[in-house]
Amino acid sequence: MSTLNLDSIIDPDVYTSGVPHDVFKTLRDEDPVHWTCERSDEPDGPGFWSLTRYADIVEASRQPGIFSSAKGIRIEDMAEDELIARTTMMELDPPVHTNYRRMVSNPFHRKEMKNYEPELRKMAVTVIEEAMGRDKLDFTIDIARQLPMRMLGSLLGIPDEDGPWLVAAGDALIGNSDPEFTEFVVDQVDTDEYRLLPFRSPVSLKLFEYAGKMAEEKTKCPAHDVTTDLLKPTRDGDRLSDLDFKNFFTLLVAAGNDTTRYTMAAGMQALLDNPDQLELLRERPELVESATEEMLRWGSVTMHFRRTLTQDYEMGGKTLKAGDRAVLWYISGDYDERQFPDPFKFDITRTPNEHLAFGLKSPHKCLGEHLARWEIRILFEELIPRIKTIQSNGPIDRLRSNFITGIKHLPVKVEWK
Ligand code: HEM
Repeated sequence: MSTLNLDSIIDPDVYTSGVPHDVFKTLRDEDPVHWTCERSDEPDGPGFWSLTRYADIVEASRQPGIFSSAKGIRIEDMAEDELIARTTMMELDPPVHTNYRRMVSNPFHRKEMKNYEPELRKMAVTVIEEAMGRDKLDFTIDIARQLPMRMLGSLLGIPDEDGPWLVAAGDALIGNSDPEFTEFVVDQVDTDEYRLLPFRSPVSLKLFEYAGKMAEEKTKCPAHDVTTDLLKPTRDGDRLSDLDFKNFFTLLVAAGNDTTRYTMAAGMQALLDNPDQLELLRERPELVESATEEMLRWGSVTMHFRRTLTQDYEMGGKTLKAGDRAVLWYISGDYDERQFPDPFKFDITRTPNEHLAFGLKSPHKCLGEHLARWEIRILFEELIPRIKTIQSNGPIDRLRSNFITGIKHLPVKVEWK
């Protein structure tokens, strides 16, 4: 057995030095369904099952009736009142989830998203041209951070001037364990007074208020945007309630912001570390689609989602008991040698590439996947032809989180064409 601390994967500080791939590999090889103890001083204390192999993660994802999302999708348990107050579609199981998803999914279909391509491209070009005035940049802050929220904002029909505030709000929600993004660091300060709010953060109240105003406005003056579509009844006559809309809006701001940003940053970092792949993409721009998929796999930025067992279940020679938590480590599955040949090679031609970054085979598979793909693809399509040379320009800085892996700061030196 390995001498590595296999339970270190839960420690948010570990991720500030990078994803502990050596630990995940050992888990995949030696104990793929591993009981992870939450407290090192209490080996028989509270814990959860860590699923680290691709096949096991897919097997669990396909069975939401057994691997339920209803008790929460983050590792930490929530009290019943917290769970009720903070439930979004992510914490619903079929059939309730199926109905909800039907109400919100239309505007996010691939062909709907394609209609927004010219707008997204224009925005990417604006952000890149703004950056082109300088030869030293923080790729994450100056480019990747600017795009997803502005793009989502434009789709939702949000005025441009509200963009920066929404970016900061999204950061405070998802980055709630990193002091750079919030003063309400969940595991460091007492956030009890906010326990009934999404992400245990007071910022969500402001987002609720903002969403309420948006709904009022778009009901009065419908426009060609996703918010207007979301407020319309579906073909079956179902319509989101006021509270549902506010919750969904808050979820979009949280889910559609830094996930895409950090995938862009992971992709850039991978190109910097693998100059042959950067050259290949420059020579064969038609590879941008498979390059995007490889960036998604490589980054796998939402590292896990949690489920709770509704009945006993055998997996990997272990008996998972009803009520136990099971954490699906997508980041580990995406580097599983059993699924991906040579997984630690960044290969923009990789096909097939059925990665787990969006939560494959789950009814919760990312609703924003097509938007995220467009955003990443368009960025690199517009960026690479404008660059003569690019290299890293100092150490990177990573997010403190066991949930999202992200390069917060990526200094680069660029020679523009
Ligand atoms: C590269 C960027 C992204 C990544 C890696 C990502 C990842 C994920 C994953 C893994 C899930 C599944 C959750 C589960 O298994 O329980 C998910 C769900 C979701 N994502 Fe994304 N996401 C990204 C971008 C976006 C964007 C741009 C949006 C918004 C437009 C979005 C909105 C959502 C929503 C609403 C859900 C919940 C779906 C449901 O419960 O049915 N995501 N995302």
